[in-house]
Amino acid sequence: MTARIFALCNQKGGVGKSTTTFHLARAAVRVGRRVLVVDNDPQGNLTSIAAAEPVDDDQAGLADALSSRADETIRDVIVPGVWPGLDVVPTSGVTLGYVRDELVIAGAGREVRLREALATVIEDYDLILIDCAPSLDQLTINGLTAADAVVVVTETKLFSANGLSQLLDTIANVKAYYNPRLTVAGVIVNKHEEQTVSGRNWLDDLKQAAEARGIRLLTPLIPKRVVISDAAEAAQGLDEWGSEAKEFAAIYDAHLAAIEGAAS
Ligand SMILES: Nc1ncnc2c1ncn2[C@@H]1O[C@H](COP(=O)(O)OP(=O)(O)O)[C@@H](O)[C@H]1O
Ligand SMILES: [Mg+2]
Repeated sequence: MTARIFALCNQKGGVGKSTTTFHLARAAVRVGRRVLVVDNDPQGNLTSIAAAEPVDDDQAGLADALSSRADETIRDVIVPGVWPGLDVVPTSGVTLGYVRDELVIAGAGREVRLREALATVIEDYDLILIDCAPSLDQLTINGLTAADAVVVVTETKLFSANGLSQLLDTIANVKAYYNPRLTVAGVIVNKHEEQTVSGRNWLDDLKQAAEARGIRLLTPLIPKRVVISDAAEAAQGLDEWGSEAKEFAAIYDAHLAAIEGAAS
C-alpha cells in the first residue's frame, strides 16, 4: 500500500488549512493510519503544533529536502509527530522562504521536487497531508504536483468566487502540465457561522460557485468554535480535549472518510 497524498490549499491565509490538516491527521492516526504531514508553508505553523519536540530554526526541514543546495533527503528531515503514527516534514526559520525564491529561478523540473522527494517515503505511510502556503507560488505548485487530490479549505465569510476561480485555474494548469491524475476531493468549509444571516448567504454563494465548477462541499461544515482552535494550539486532538469537543472530532472523521473515498 502506498500513501494517498492530499494538498490542503487556499491562497488566503487564516482560513484554517493548518488547523484542518492537524485535526484530519488526528482522525487518521486514531484509525491506525500511518500519517505524514508536510509543512509546506514558510510560516511553519503546522510544525509548531504537530511536531513532538520543538524544531529549531536552524534544524533541517522541508526546505533542505527541496533545495538543490542542501544534501538532506526528505527521510533525513522527518521528525516524530505528537502522536504515535504521525510524522512531520517540518518547517522552521526562514529557509523555506529562500527555497521558494530559489524555485522561481530554477530550471526544468522545479515543479516536481516535492513529488520526487515524497516518492522515496510513500511506502512508509497510508496518508500524506500537505499543508500549503497561503499563495499560488512554486511551493503550492509543488504541493499540487505531488498530490493525488486537492482539498480546498475556505471560510464562508472570506469566500470569493474570484479567489476560487484563481485557485481552480492553478489546479487546472498543474493537471495539464505536471500532474494529469490530480483531482479535487472537495471543499471543506471552515469557521462556518450557521447562526448568522450573512454566514448563510455566503454559504449559498459558495455552493453555487462550487456547483458551477463541478466541485462538492464536504459535509458537515466545520463551525467556528474556540475548542477547535484551542485544542490544535495545545497540540491535542479534539477527542483528547474533553466531552464538549468530541462532536467536533466526529466532523473530521467524516471529512477524512470523504476525501479518502474521493481519491480511491
Ligand atoms: N473551526 C474553527 N473555529 C475557530 N477557530 C478556528 C477554526 N479553524 C481555525 N481556527 C483558528 O483560525 C486561525 C487561522 O487558522 P489556521 O489553521 O492557522 O489557518 P491557515 O493555515 O489557513 O492560515 C487560527 O488561530 C486557528 O486556531
Ligand atoms: Mg497555515
